[in-house]
Amino acid sequence: MDEEQRDRLSRPMDEDQIDRITRLPKVELHLHHEGAAPPAFIRGLAQEKSVNLEGVFTSNGGYAFRDFVHFLSVYEAATSVLKSPEDYARLTKAVLEESAANDVVYSETFLSPDFCGGGDVGAWREYLHAIKDAADEAERDHGIILRGIVTCIRHFGPDKAKATALCAAETAGDWIVGFGIAGDEMKGKPKDFAYSFDMAREAGLHLTAHAGEWGGAASVRDAIDDLGVTRIGHGVHAITDLALVDKLVENEIVLEVCPGSNVVLNVYPNLAVHPIDTLRERGVKVTVSTDDPPFFHTTMRQEYLNLAKTFGWDEAVFAELNDTAARAAFCDDDTRERVLKRLERI
Ligand code: ADE
Ligand code: ZN
Repeated sequence: MDEEQRDRLSRPMDEDQIDRITRLPKVELHLHHEGAAPPAFIRGLAQEKSVNLEGVFTSNGGYAFRDFVHFLSVYEAATSVLKSPEDYARLTKAVLEESAANDVVYSETFLSPDFCGGGDVGAWREYLHAIKDAADEAERDHGIILRGIVTCIRHFGPDKAKATALCAAETAGDWIVGFGIAGDEMKGKPKDFAYSFDMAREAGLHLTAHAGEWGGAASVRDAIDDLGVTRIGHGVHAITDLALVDKLVENEIVLEVCPGSNVVLNVYPNLAVHPIDTLRERGVKVTVSTDDPPFFHTTMRQEYLNLAKTFGWDEAVFAELNDTAARAAFCDDDTRERVLKRLERI
């Protein structure tokens, strides 16, 4: 933290300034489609379809989980009620309404063919069609632009990832713009998934991987070296290896940091000890996202508010983060120009 920041933190931010920061137009690069489902939406679908979701919700109506591994199983149980392209269309509408209400102008969402048609290319196309139609409608209604990153699930294993990569390669284009990997980082190694990432790269997709959320700095290094990704989901444990931090800076690897997620899942006990500010100061290209917002009781506005209060970040810092995110977005350059224009608003 530099002196200017310390000085800013010593004075309480006035309401106007907080208001301006939280209402800034935003770019979000790291959002899981099912993870953004409001619990009431999932509960409603479960009732419609008579699916028993015992254990998924708290008595207050939020999602119930004890730790990361339990989170993943609750996530998958909640996702089990999404059974058709129409369900995903409804989910897309709900997710984008919430993102737009948080001033998000451009978002990239992780979509998994494992959940959308079980890895079958034909079924995946139908899900994707429904999702894109709903996204087009949201863009007309709210101005928000959505693009998709096809994402394999690490704990489902490399064979399932290959089927996912095939779905990605078959639908790569101006809407499916990336390929990634999420799930349990402690299962397997990045190189087990190199075949799938090679297939996605050959199809013209940009690449990102969850790494350095649960794994250490080596996990981030392996994702870069073995998968050739240009962005890292989380990546926060890179901070324990300053040579790796330098490598991130030199190679302009962008981190999709999700501070609220990291605190709720206990990667860090609180935001004050989270490394996002140190990484930024060291010159790493950091961006801010919510990951699975209703699971972590967060929103993009809430993330900005917390970061402003904890680190004394002002509007200029957030504008820089959003500029970084827009430039690191996997969309085509015409779309990027439109997004950059929307960020100029203030
Ligand atoms: N899937 C949804 N959220 C995730 C997270 N934070 N880490 C890994 N996989 C996920
Ligand atoms: Zn994530």
